[in-house]
Amino acid sequence: MIWSNFKAWQVARALASWGRPTFREKKLMATTFKRTIWLDEKDPTIVHIIDQRKLPHSYETMALKTADDAINAIADMAVRGAPLIGATGAYGVYLGLLEEKEEFRSLAERMKRARPTAVNLAWAVDRIAEAIGDAGSAGAAQRALGEAEAIVEEDVEICRQIGVHGLRLIEEIAARKQGPVNVLTHCNAGSLATIEWGTATSPIYHAHEKGIPIHVWVDETRPRNQGASLTAYELGAHGVPHTVIVDNAGGHLMQHGEVDLVLVGTDRTTRTGDVCNKIGTYLKALAASDCGVPFYVGAPSPSIDWSVRDGLREIPIEERSGEEVSYLEGQGASAVTRVRLTPEASPCVNPAFDVTPARLVTGLITERGICPATEEGLLSLFPENA
Ligand code: MRU
Repeated sequence: MIWSNFKAWQVARALASWGRPTFREKKLMATTFKRTIWLDEKDPTIVHIIDQRKLPHSYETMALKTADDAINAIADMAVRGAPLIGATGAYGVYLGLLEEKEEFRSLAERMKRARPTAVNLAWAVDRIAEAIGDAGSAGAAQRALGEAEAIVEEDVEICRQIGVHGLRLIEEIAARKQGPVNVLTHCNAGSLATIEWGTATSPIYHAHEKGIPIHVWVDETRPRNQGASLTAYELGAHGVPHTVIVDNAGGHLMQHGEVDLVLVGTDRTTRTGDVCNKIGTYLKALAASDCGVPFYVGAPSPSIDWSVRDGLREIPIEERSGEEVSYLEGQGASAVTRVRLTPEASPCVNPAFDVTPARLVTGLITERGICPATEEGLLSLFPENA
């Protein structure tokens, strides 16, 4: 009883300073998606996730029972997307505390290393550490769970607010043009990458729900194809018109006036406004700058790394296996099939993220409003980090 009150207090604290979602907003998310991570209703020692490696061909869930289950799910990208990685890391630490097998410090370090680029993972693990404080082992697990649930509830509200602010940009474009607003997005910064709304997709869902004609160009996003498999899947589920393009098509479409707005997510934004996101984002920003297309980033505050000034030099870029480049996976006649694309002898490298310098970013859409991608801009919304 005391425990459930404590949890309720944590969640209430997380929501205290926010506006309430409207009935239509709640219905939109509830009708098309479950959340991306949730505690088992009967057994609080089990956490469920959607196995995103199986989408769009099959919708399968996975049960996480140990810290290693969570670490593997993050590293192997059963879950991915900066906010969801953070939430999974938080629950993973909770599961590790229940196991009572490992010192907290080593558990936390292993969890943080599962994927190094998205700052949300380290942020979430550090938040759990702070919440635990000096609690004994039983109390520590309970506090960790309370904090993990608070992180999840906050993320829903942060992403909803990004949608409310970003909607203004889409409305402005819609007011001055005939036909649908064409948005280009890269990777999956959608509801599957967060808990519910997504960051880049939240303004899109809000616009669609408001009846603003909108169409999304979805970059396939080699090598893991999060755009082709995940963004296309979730936009389809929400009924948002979209077209999948190869990564190299974006510049051409921008040159021909087919893109009104580029909207992407972020894995780590520096205090000076550099944006680290899925590999290929930088090239989209270069093309957008050349073509005069606004380039905005859905930037939730947990993805801002206030300790970093120079994104190019200071952000660790994850190197993933070259096999993600040399092999392709897709639905065959009867099963999902993996085929080799490159000559056996050709080496492949696979940097998973790149950094878009702040000068190429038109603005950052945060949960507190939209600001220029500068230190002054960010501090005007988050003065507590001055
Ligand atoms: O490798 P991934 O799929 O985890 O990369 C995801 C992205 O790059 C997203 O754009 C980013 O995490 C923002 S998610 C709201």
